[in-house]
Amino acid sequence: MDRLIDKFGRRIDYLRISVTDRCNLRCVYCMPSCGIVTKAHEELLSFEEISRIVKAAAYLGIAKIRLTGGEPLVRKNLASLIISLNKISGIKDISMTTNGVLLKEYAAELKEAGLKRINISLDSLKEDRYRSITRHGALEDVLDGIGRALENGFSHIKLNVLLLDDITEDEIKNFLILIIENNISVRFLEFMPVNSFYKSENFVSCKTVMAVAKRLGVVEESKALGSGPAKEYRLKDGLGTFGLISPMSDKFCASCNRLRLTSDGFMKSCLHSDLKVDLRNPLRKGIDEEGLARLIKLAVDIKPKEHSLDKGVPLVHEFSMCQIGG
Ligand code: GTP
Ligand code: 5AD
Ligand code: SF4
Repeated sequence: MDRLIDKFGRRIDYLRISVTDRCNLRCVYCMPSCGIVTKAHEELLSFEEISRIVKAAAYLGIAKIRLTGGEPLVRKNLASLIISLNKISGIKDISMTTNGVLLKEYAAELKEAGLKRINISLDSLKEDRYRSITRHGALEDVLDGIGRALENGFSHIKLNVLLLDDITEDEIKNFLILIIENNISVRFLEFMPVNSFYKSENFVSCKTVMAVAKRLGVVEESKALGSGPAKEYRLKDGLGTFGLISPMSDKFCASCNRLRLTSDGFMKSCLHSDLKVDLRNPLRKGIDEEGLARLIKLAVDIKPKEHSLDKGVPLVHEFSMCQIGG
């Protein structure tokens, strides 16, 4: 079997699949107030098309899949896609990143379909702040969803907290208290400037989180469970862990292991590059598995060495995470 190794020697074994660009929230950093123009249904890959791409990718050594959006749970029948992907030889881990709003409805069927892990985006534990960040979301829905996921046997649940410019040390502390009392992971993400409709006035680094944690207790390194870029720690005697994702202050491009498939069928080899390979049109024109594998290799061949956000270099083209899935 051919392995996917890029020109900088990085082994690629992780594919993030955006199943829709639609979302049931309107986070201020992700969408302009007017919303975004979403893709027409026929522009989206069908589940069958996604499965064919994953089959070719698995042949090349992709073993871990993460479903993202938009919000993946707004795509109808998602459990059936998980069932199909689980049958593909070589696929060992299927996970999902969701905003958690619909989890209370779907947790049981996702577990039954074979979803292994869930990461939940939750930027605030304060009802008012949560509502204003998401423009209308209800914190209670997400907390109920987390409860339902735990009841249905999901372990290693991770919360993703974006370090927005108005986050307070008090809020960071409340998230850290959660991991003292619960066996979950809370990861703090540095904000990446990727569009012009949301301006962050004040960059909050993961170093601030570490300082707050050290005031709360003794911080120990912990083994990272997952495929992503987080560095994991625990607070002595706490049940859970916290993770730091620092694309700006401690860039992790040198160990990048991933590709991204957009909901309309383009393979992107870097979140911060415009380079992408169209798979949808070749698929609809009848390309075979070998041809698909060649196109996936091409996406790996054009993978850039690193992003240059930390050097203040303007983006080639601005984007919103809901178009790519974070
Ligand atoms: P696991 O570690 O397997 O749980 O997954 P993960 O951390 O890769 O998944 P998740 O979707 O929760 O990713 C967390 C966040 O990390 C994303 O939302 C992004 O903000 C950031 N991130 C993930 N991949 C990349 C990447 O390739 N480049 C950059 N700059 N940031 C990334
Ligand atoms: N910088 C860093 N992470 C972001 N996300 C969305 N926008 C940004 C950004 N500008 C994260 C969300 C969610 C994931 C899908 O992407 O918080 O956890
Ligand atoms: Fe939806 Fe996620 Fe974007 Fe928020 S960050 S609007 S939850 S896709």
